[in-house]
Amino acid sequence: MRGKKLAALATASLLVLSGAACGSTTESGSADATTPASTPKAGGAGGTVGVFTWWADGSEKKGLDALEVMFKKQYPNDTFQNLAVAGGSGSNAKAKLASDLKNGNPPGSFQGHAGAELMDYIDADQVEPVDDIIKELGGESVFPKTLLDKLTVDGHIYSVPVDIHRANVVWSNTALLKKAGITSTPTDVAGWLADLQKVKDSGVATPLSIGGTWTQTELFESILASNLGADEYSKLFSKDGKWDSDGVKQSIEQYKKALTFANTASDGDDWPNATDMVADGKAAYNVMGDWAVAQFEMKGKTYKTDWDAFAMPGKENIFDFLADSFTLPAGTKNPGGTQDWLRFVGSKDAQTTFNKLKGSIPPRTDISSDGFSAYQRSAMKDFKSSDTKIVSSIAHGAAVPLAWSSEINTAMSKFYQDKNTDNLVSALVASHDKYAQ
Ligand code: GAL
Repeated sequence: MRGKKLAALATASLLVLSGAACGSTTESGSADATTPASTPKAGGAGGTVGVFTWWADGSEKKGLDALEVMFKKQYPNDTFQNLAVAGGSGSNAKAKLASDLKNGNPPGSFQGHAGAELMDYIDADQVEPVDDIIKELGGESVFPKTLLDKLTVDGHIYSVPVDIHRANVVWSNTALLKKAGITSTPTDVAGWLADLQKVKDSGVATPLSIGGTWTQTELFESILASNLGADEYSKLFSKDGKWDSDGVKQSIEQYKKALTFANTASDGDDWPNATDMVADGKAAYNVMGDWAVAQFEMKGKTYKTDWDAFAMPGKENIFDFLADSFTLPAGTKNPGGTQDWLRFVGSKDAQTTFNKLKGSIPPRTDISSDGFSAYQRSAMKDFKSSDTKIVSSIAHGAAVPLAWSSEINTAMSKFYQDKNTDNLVSALVASHDKYAQ
């Protein structure tokens, strides 16, 4: 079952994720789902609800804090417990979560990425279906069916999606670009590398800012998807994936070139520092998911005036997708409280407030774009456009399972040290051969 599901996940380029024109007919939220949700009680079921995320600092914490305030108001009987573990992309949190789950000590709910990562938890029987909650929230009439499909196994839905992020965004400092004489957006990766050179020639010591390993993986996957296009990139995660193709090798060479313009980073350097370098005029570019919007906003910087953003350019307009969702862990101590949390994070109010603060798009399709930032409105437009190709992020659990992404990160970390293309290709091929189904 799992193999089938993963292969389907990997090759889907998700053109219709916006819900505008759903085509798939299998496996989505079956009406006869069997997991009974507790009947919602006014004020909540009572007891503690420990919520596990990696939204522990800065702009990410702001979104979670707003949810906490709203949850407390709407569910006064429940006690919210913030179990966040710092470290972007779950770089520390995922190990802690894995050991808690293994030791039979699950939190009330944990953050998991729609797609391959969630399938890991389902496969290990660590999460329970939440069909009734999704149904209560409106099911396919409010959530895109193709997104629900990424949360579904054997007709059961296993989490409630809370946001949709784009990973392949190039953020820029407008003043530094102006100083370098850059007046238009590049149309391919080679053009962007040429602009990095122009920035360097204008006297900027660090044209590109990077953080620790997962941010490097994200930069690499952005270049990869731009060069390969959606179909070839998505195929990489299936049996037929060719990680030693010319397109992959060319992307590694371009990625290596990009690194020559970047600051020196250690494995654990987190993303806010890298994004701040652009906000503060210390770097011209940073490639980061659009949680970066919240960071620019937190620093009081204005879109188009102080900073700008474009998707990594290439042969198609790629939307490198990931979505956070919340789960009902198997064996959690207070399932009634967890279900309150899930009802809450799936609601229109919670998703509106949270996504405005987080820089993301609400998965719910019944939320108006009014009040969202200009960047977010442009991301929503792109996400729905038939010209956009939606692919799954490697660095953020959508494309590959945890074990595979962890091996890719190890290979990227080695590459950061030795810059040896052949070694990286061999490692990527080996991981593919081990995990692709
Ligand atoms: C992603 C997560 C985002 C954001 C980002 C940086 O994995 O889905 O919501 O938290 O990491 O930490």
